[in-house]
Amino acid sequence: MQKEYPFIAKQDPEVAELLKKETLRQENVVRLIASENYVSKAVLEATGSPLTNKYSEGYPYRRYYKGQEVIDVLESLTIERAKALFGAEHANVQPYSGSPANMEAYYAFLEPGDTILGMSLPHGGHLTHGWKVSASSRFYKSVQYPIDEKTNRLNMATVRELAKECKPKLILAGASAYPRIIDFAAFKEIADEVGAYLMVDMAHIAGLVAAGVHPSPVPYADVVTTTTHKTLRGPRGAMILCKEQYAKKVDSAVFPANQGGPHNHTTAGMAVAFKEAASDSFKAYGRKVVENAAALADELLKLGFNLVTGGTDNHLILIDLRNKNLKGNPIATAMEKAGIVCNSNTVPYETGKAMDPSGIRLGSAAVTTRGFGEKEMRLIANWTNEICKDPEGEATISRIRKEVEEVCASFPVPDTLVSD
Ligand SMILES: Cc1ncc(COP(=O)(O)O)c(C=O)c1O
Repeated sequence: MQKEYPFIAKQDPEVAELLKKETLRQENVVRLIASENYVSKAVLEATGSPLTNKYSEGYPYRRYYKGQEVIDVLESLTIERAKALFGAEHANVQPYSGSPANMEAYYAFLEPGDTILGMSLPHGGHLTHGWKVSASSRFYKSVQYPIDEKTNRLNMATVRELAKECKPKLILAGASAYPRIIDFAAFKEIADEVGAYLMVDMAHIAGLVAAGVHPSPVPYADVVTTTTHKTLRGPRGAMILCKEQYAKKVDSAVFPANQGGPHNHTTAGMAVAFKEAASDSFKAYGRKVVENAAALADELLKLGFNLVTGGTDNHLILIDLRNKNLKGNPIATAMEKAGIVCNSNTVPYETGKAMDPSGIRLGSAAVTTRGFGEKEMRLIANWTNEICKDPEGEATISRIRKEVEEVCASFPVPDTLVSD
């Protein structure tokens, strides 16, 4: 990774110091936040390019400002790469991030006051899926489906029952903290039964879908939103994929309804990332993300951890710490001191408060990018176990911190992420 920021250092040493510190932090810790990753130097270069200087409101070859001969070609290329990668009929690559993309998709398909049926936040959904503090529940009538109390998995009979009861105009599938494969065909069947649109937010799993290790929602959904920076390993941004018949209303929901000029430097980063994601080495990365999560889950189970749903099919693991009489925040804090960075998370049917949840969420994407394998994943499980046994034990924590640094030093973050 880049170690020096010579231009910033000369002009603004304060910010340069912060950048260097964060770069070092990312090198020296085990990053298990399920929504994070390391992008390639090529993606970083694109996002730091002079394209940030250009305004280009509108769409390729239909712009409001002049000087678009490069931007038009670039955005068209990015759209074509997105469509090819996911087999989509139409792609809009302008959304600034995942939350605006979701609001824009709602805007395209709904009128204020229409009903949306999405996954409840404490059960794994995202804020923008209709949770009470999100604008998505202010402008639309939000009904939330839970996961099954016994299995902690989606229960399609419950989703169907709720859909029949509330007659949503749009059903939303997708999650931020659900460790299992989502049955998009079953969601589509229910959406058809009640005459609703099906929207899928595949932000977390987009990289796994691109790599072919998770079923794709694209053939089933009317509209698919995704961030580009999680498992997909691109720049901070988002896109909306849809059937051709909805292209016009999706495009106008993004611009001019909800956004101004697209972030062209991000568009360039997406183009680079989509080319990387179409490579064989990305497919191998996708397989390894899933294998690594499975190895981590297996070792955690052996150590007596209670995993929500008993394991994982994707990149994500949710540990319910209640059987160990522990809470998520103090454990995540102790882990961070030891150099292992994750987030505390509510667990389904949470008994604690939202700010004091009972779980932690772990993800395997970033560590897989830096080359961790099964051995390191099992090591992480054992470190987690030691920390949980003695979260305040300074000697244990500083010993683990040293071990973490040694492992990180043997897996430097690679600048180039494709070899084919
Ligand atoms: C499923 C899902 N959708 C949307 C988002 C929002 O993305 P952003 O943070 O880019 O707004 C997230 C963020 O974590 C997410 O998990």
